[in-house]
Amino acid sequence: MKNLVKQAQQVLNKNWKDGFSVPSAKLYPFQWLWDSGFIAIGFAHYDMDKAEKEIATLLDAQWDNGFIPHIVFHTPSDTYFPGPEFHQSELHPLSSKKYKSTGMTQPPVTGFVLEEMYRISQDKNSTLAFIKSQIDKVFLNHEYFYKHRDPNNEGLVYIYHNWESGTDNSPIWDDIFATMNPPHYEFTRRDTTHVDAAERPTNREYDHYLHIINIAKEHNYSDEKIAELSPFLIQDPLFNTMLIKSNEALINLYEILGDNQDKIAQLKLWNQKAIGGMNTKLYHDELQVYTHFDVRNNRPIPFITSSSFAPIFANFVSQQRVENMLNIMLDKFGGEDKYLCASFDPTNERFDPKKYWRGPVWVNLNWMLYRGCRAYDYNTLAERIKKDTIEIVEKSGFYEYFDARKEIHISDKAGYGGGDFSWTAALLLDLIESDL
Ligand code: GLC
Repeated sequence: MKNLVKQAQQVLNKNWKDGFSVPSAKLYPFQWLWDSGFIAIGFAHYDMDKAEKEIATLLDAQWDNGFIPHIVFHTPSDTYFPGPEFHQSELHPLSSKKYKSTGMTQPPVTGFVLEEMYRISQDKNSTLAFIKSQIDKVFLNHEYFYKHRDPNNEGLVYIYHNWESGTDNSPIWDDIFATMNPPHYEFTRRDTTHVDAAERPTNREYDHYLHIINIAKEHNYSDEKIAELSPFLIQDPLFNTMLIKSNEALINLYEILGDNQDKIAQLKLWNQKAIGGMNTKLYHDELQVYTHFDVRNNRPIPFITSSSFAPIFANFVSQQRVENMLNIMLDKFGGEDKYLCASFDPTNERFDPKKYWRGPVWVNLNWMLYRGCRAYDYNTLAERIKKDTIEIVEKSGFYEYFDARKEIHISDKAGYGGGDFSWTAALLLDLIESDL
């Protein structure tokens, strides 16, 4: 285990670029939002200074309306497409003047990451001083979401692009893409020069991704116009769970800091409504798990993904529902021949064990599920998720995603996508340090 800790730290140190980290050297050469959050949790275990810088740099790129972009382009790089010239964040009047970025966001992790840093910290006073200097930016970000991403006042925020979900090419988006007919764009992919094309989205899928961005750009990334016109408009259980968890974390931290009663009251109101929305609109009675809701076409998306179980991370699910959800996870995703937890239902015909978010295991989702199982006292399952996660990394390396089928880890290459992947290293460190 000592060796694994050392290797994980080496991966993080290698990907550190003086103020922020890249997720994986060639494939992702900039700063990504939710990656940075998970990376900070890893650094907090052995280098709090870097953890703080990681978050401070990310929040420095916040726009004047509270929005935090999903990629901050700190440096020019020709190993990535689509880069800053395509995204043109400067079209939005309130975008950062200091950094070029995308005009989309990613799951709101920063709130609960600050709380994790406080939990891990050996010098609570110093970490609290850092939190005090940053926390209002995170509050402003949550205010942005509820003001601009919840037009029908349901307590549930929408995402307007599959890249905002973090689960880029999940089969859940297939039926939405089937309602679109984007042009065939001329562009040169960069990702497939670093990674086997069989492990990445297709060119036609990229046409859809670019098309949605072009619609947003035509309207200077106006939230109102996007809500009106984007063919992709989703309420995502993973995204909303993280926002709820981050609201909760801000409440706890403001209580420790003192003097912030108005903000605490506001956060409680947001959470009350959000939890109501999650437990009614995003709970699927027949499937007995949480599912995505397609706002544009006004229908639930009836598929089970690892995001369907993520709500246990935020403690708002009834004991009975947790019991059912975890039985479904074990039944469909957790046979003895499999590592937990595949990103998409292995019993569904759309499952693909190698292709990115269409099946492989991701360490960040496992980390959330581990924490959720612990919180609800499902300790045997928590232990299994932890053991599975450590084992896949030990057997196959610090990859971006992994095959869920155990036999592949014996006979073949079973780690896919980018190598030396930062959040795999960071969250493995946190898992190894955790008590069970
Ligand atoms: C991929 C993942 C996304 C991640 C990014 C950088 O796009 O799908 O979740 O943030 O890579 O690692």
